Amino acid sequence: MPKVYNWHLGREMDYRFAGGPAKRQFAAVFNINRCIACQTCTMACKSTWTFSPGQELMWWNNVETKPYGGYPQHWDVNILEMQEKANPGGQVWNATQKDPRTAPYGTFEGKTIFETADQINNMVTGYIPPEEDWKAPNIFEDTATNYPKQGVELPEHSGWFFYLQRLCNHCTYPACLAACPRNAIYKREEDGIVLIDEGRCRGYRKCVEACPYKKSMYRPSTRTSEKCIGCYPRVEGSDPLTNGLPMETRCMAGCIGKIRLQGLIQAGADGQWIEDRQNPLYYLVQVEKVALPLYPQFGTQPNIYYIPPRWVPRDYLRQMFGPGVDDAIAKYTNPSRELLAVLQLFRATQEIIFSYKVEPGPKTSEITVAGVKREIYNDTVIGYDSNGKEIVRVHVDEPLIERPAQVTMNTI
Ligand code: SF4
Ligand code: SF4
Ligand code: SF4
Ligand code: F3S
Repeated sequence: MPKVYNWHLGREMDYRFAGGPAKRQFAAVFNINRCIACQTCTMACKSTWTFSPGQELMWWNNVETKPYGGYPQHWDVNILEMQEKANPGGQVWNATQKDPRTAPYGTFEGKTIFETADQINNMVTGYIPPEEDWKAPNIFEDTATNYPKQGVELPEHSGWFFYLQRLCNHCTYPACLAACPRNAIYKREEDGIVLIDEGRCRGYRKCVEACPYKKSMYRPSTRTSEKCIGCYPRVEGSDPLTNGLPMETRCMAGCIGKIRLQGLIQAGADGQWIEDRQNPLYYLVQVEKVALPLYPQFGTQPNIYYIPPRWVPRDYLRQMFGPGVDDAIAKYTNPSRELLAVLQLFRATQEIIFSYKVEPGPKTSEITVAGVKREIYNDTVIGYDSNGKEIVRVHVDEPLIERPAQVTMNTI
């Protein structure tokens, strides 16, 4: 079994194929703190890609309420339990030895889903959810752990829930790809998007079984599996709106809460990100480390990163996002001047932003957050496309628009 480097785990791991990583990698940052669960992203995907017969239970993008919700139901609890059973008490992190680039969260000392499999009958530990688990995609919507009578205060709430936005992670080491006996799944070198070749697929469903995030889905009407295609025509720049330039996907571009920022990062042959300080995703994930991978311990090196919710008990978040949670929340609670500016780029344009620049602006206020005094500056952040051309310019202070006293009535 070849060894590959997984920087989320801070160590090498077993993976079926040695040459995994792509030169450019599809990636995104989701700010959980801002999601309003409007499901616009979910419907943007559904109405584009999965509205046909046989796709009724298929939601490539979904937003579920944690801790109880899940699509399919209990997807994460089920695989966490299987992993714990295979390696009792051993699924732990050593967060004392960190390296900013090769082990930013420390080292995972447990076993990945590849390492708990026997590698003879199964390449990956997993399971196929029963059909009823796919039937209620938004089960337990807005259900909190309890409802306290009195008001609650940050940092942690005694009764809590949060929204988790999910799609295929276009993993650097995809479990679906490793598991398919037909080699029907491939990862594109140009953008790291993971696709199923529908011509080769024979419906073996090993991909459904293997994906720990349950984002490969079986379609009974064609007897093949399907998954998020990363809206690749948009990422390739085929949409006439952007004149051949890479464009964000449907679920990203439609986000009402402005919680999503998608892009393409440069990756080396070892799966690590190549330094690109002015790429907003590189800055958020590698420099500030304010956004973290979802269940990095599974070992697929997923490429959707999350700014964790501030009000949720830390133990729960550490299990979900690894040991980087406390630092990430501290950074988000009191963001640096640059971080505050970069956060304004979320959903500011449909074109993919490849680099940014911050221009200093005047001081506009002084505030105290979590006991820390802060000065706020109305800086300007400018986003550039893949050719270095300016595509967006936004300010930290939102403009105040006053309506005219005399309003013209719509008389239709
Ligand atoms: Fe495959 Fe699942 Fe990773 Fe998507 S999230 S690439 S379906 S393993
Ligand atoms: Fe659907 Fe495209 Fe979003 Fe994938 S990237 S979930 S295909 S809208
Ligand atoms: Fe959340 Fe944005 Fe989706 Fe609405 S569109 S549910 S705010 S991720
Ligand atoms: Fe392979 Fe999954 Fe099809 S395992 S054959 S891609 S159903």
